[in-house]
Amino acid sequence: MKPVGLKTKIFLDSGDSVETAEILGKLGFLDGQTTNPSLIAKSPESLQRLKSGDKFTAPEVTDFYQTVIQKVATIIPQGSISIEVYADEHTSAEAMIEQAKSFSTWTPRAQIKFPITTAGLQAAAAAVAMGLSVNMTLCFTQQQAAAVYAATAGAVKGQVYLSPFVGRLDDSGQNGIDLIKNIIQMYSAGDGHVEVLAASVRTMDHFFSSIKLGADIITAPSKILNEWSVGGLNLPPQDFVYHTGNLQPLAYEQLSLTNPWQEYDLNHPLTAKGLAKFAEDWNSIIKK
Ligand code: E4P
Repeated sequence: MKPVGLKTKIFLDSGDSVETAEILGKLGFLDGQTTNPSLIAKSPESLQRLKSGDKFTAPEVTDFYQTVIQKVATIIPQGSISIEVYADEHTSAEAMIEQAKSFSTWTPRAQIKFPITTAGLQAAAAAVAMGLSVNMTLCFTQQQAAAVYAATAGAVKGQVYLSPFVGRLDDSGQNGIDLIKNIIQMYSAGDGHVEVLAASVRTMDHFFSSIKLGADIITAPSKILNEWSVGGLNLPPQDFVYHTGNLQPLAYEQLSLTNPWQEYDLNHPLTAKGLAKFAEDWNSIIKK
């Protein structure tokens, strides 16, 4: 059962529906699931197929993704399920919107993931205007978070998620948890239409810090959710302190949330790197 007093929604970060069932069994609840191209490409079913030397055709890989999503939806029918568009640096907003329209027919609780790039934000703004729900991924800066807020103004609460990537910032030597803290602080001046989803969560300290900071949602791999379950689904104690070690702090930036979104700086090397890696992993399972 969800611990009393836990307001943060807990999602599983996985491309494998077997894990969905396992984690639901262990936690007794699961508020949703996030997927991405790398997780789908590396899911056991996909790896099994590739092992036999048989890559997917382009239509088959989409069917495979749909099947995974629909299996997850059967296990957590009330849960939000994030489905990521294929995008590389050349993908147009129109191409992303076409995917979004199709993916949103797969399950009623679809949250379409777009990268925080110019084309991704154009697509997301159009998707939100059509009434679709979105999850803006590969967020590494407050400027990107402000752009997401501005580009989706007018959306209803729950229609827009923002995914700041904690672990990948840590990998680069910067304190990813500071990004969560800074965005929550910045968004506290807003209308609440964007929910903060702590992503790339790699440790129990990331998990507990995100709860403590009041993240709306955390997505975590099964390893972390298993660890949480073994520990008795504890909440961070009142005196919980996040030890940052040698990570460089990220200073808070005073930003307006109401500029035209095109005025914010959307660039970050980890966004470009993440986009390229998602595309590479996806293409690696498709026959040429
Ligand atoms: C979730 O939506 C993200 O794609 C995921 O949390 C990324 O995690 P990683 O940095 O461990 O790949």
